[in-house]
Amino acid sequence: MLPANHPLVDGRTGGSRLIRAYRGDRPDVTPVWFMRQAGRSLPEYRELRVGTRMLDACLTPELASEITLQPVRRHGVDAAIFFSDIVVPVLLAGVGVEIVPGRGPVIEHPIRTASDVNALRPIDPDALAPIADAVARTVAELGDTPLIGFAGAPFTLASYLVEGGPSKEHLRARTMMYADAHAWASLLNWCADVSGQFLLAQVRAGASAVQLFDSWVGSLSEQQYVRRVAPHSARAFSHLRGYDVPKVHFGVGSGELLRAMRAVGADVVGVDWRIPLDEAERRLGGGVPLQGNIDPALLGAPWRVLQAHLDDVLDRGLAAPAHVVNLGHGVPPETDPDVLTRVVEYVHGRG
Ligand code: CP3
Repeated sequence: MLPANHPLVDGRTGGSRLIRAYRGDRPDVTPVWFMRQAGRSLPEYRELRVGTRMLDACLTPELASEITLQPVRRHGVDAAIFFSDIVVPVLLAGVGVEIVPGRGPVIEHPIRTASDVNALRPIDPDALAPIADAVARTVAELGDTPLIGFAGAPFTLASYLVEGGPSKEHLRARTMMYADAHAWASLLNWCADVSGQFLLAQVRAGASAVQLFDSWVGSLSEQQYVRRVAPHSARAFSHLRGYDVPKVHFGVGSGELLRAMRAVGADVVGVDWRIPLDEAERRLGGGVPLQGNIDPALLGAPWRVLQAHLDDVLDRGLAAPAHVVNLGHGVPPETDPDVLTRVVEYVHGRG
């Protein structure tokens, strides 16, 4: 149960455009936020990060909270997304991980064998204190703007742990899925539990919705996903049982997996830029609120080209019961922040 002073319960965010749309309603004005809105596209972010490593910033509540608030102040988006990273719970569980600028998460000792998996430990709940603190500070500042909490889905997290860093095709991880199905299942259960603990800490501290990022799930067939991954993603969400917060599920290149991704317990499905929203609605069989699906490449195009794309996305989004505008993936670091502000104004102005 959510505490009585939670923003969804005490009336602060329950009637917001974002939460209404996530619950399947169509507010007068279409809500919009951007994945990776907090980060390198903002000069105020780069300034604040000078001399602080990414993961240290994530675990410093004042800093994580301030960075979360920056894009809300600047762009007037309809939601904040908590500034953190999918590997933060992995670090809090005691695994050596660093985020290397320009590259991404790098694991000190990659998890490759059954004994590597068996040595993994759960998160000591006390270790989540800086996360709860950062969320509570942020929610107090946000007023009636909802905060979205997030976590990495088990497959995407496991892909970093097995590969040891970013990879294109996730070959080692996908090989482990077949070579040692038992170790794979244990690893994905561990990932589900650390991500689940991370989600629950954010919700208890005041997040009004959550998003599970399965960024690299597009490298799987539907059959592989359903058999070897989906039950673990459901387990990550199951940590929120009894907490009535909207759950969004997003993956890149996941056009073939939308139905299966919904089925793990998502209320809202995020769509990248590869299929239009009316097609996503058709594949889902109707009735599911959608989030997306501006092509991030178009943020660098002339405004009239971007505007035509926005019109198309908004028109096709009418096929779904509700639509939250977002990008099909994160904000590219080189994006002109004024373009993002203009997108927000345009979406809000169109009603
Ligand atoms: O604004 C937001 O969306 C909130 C913050 C956020 C970050 N990472 C901050 C971050 C969120 C939601 C994430 C999730 C995340 N992290 C995902 C899932 C979403 C996606 O993009 O697919 C993944 C796969 C990661 C792993 C990760 N962390 C990558 C691939 C990178 C980029 C590496 C690089 O430098 O290009 C990171 C680092 C990271 N996470 C940065 C930020 C702001 C950049 C760090 C910096 O400022 O140096």
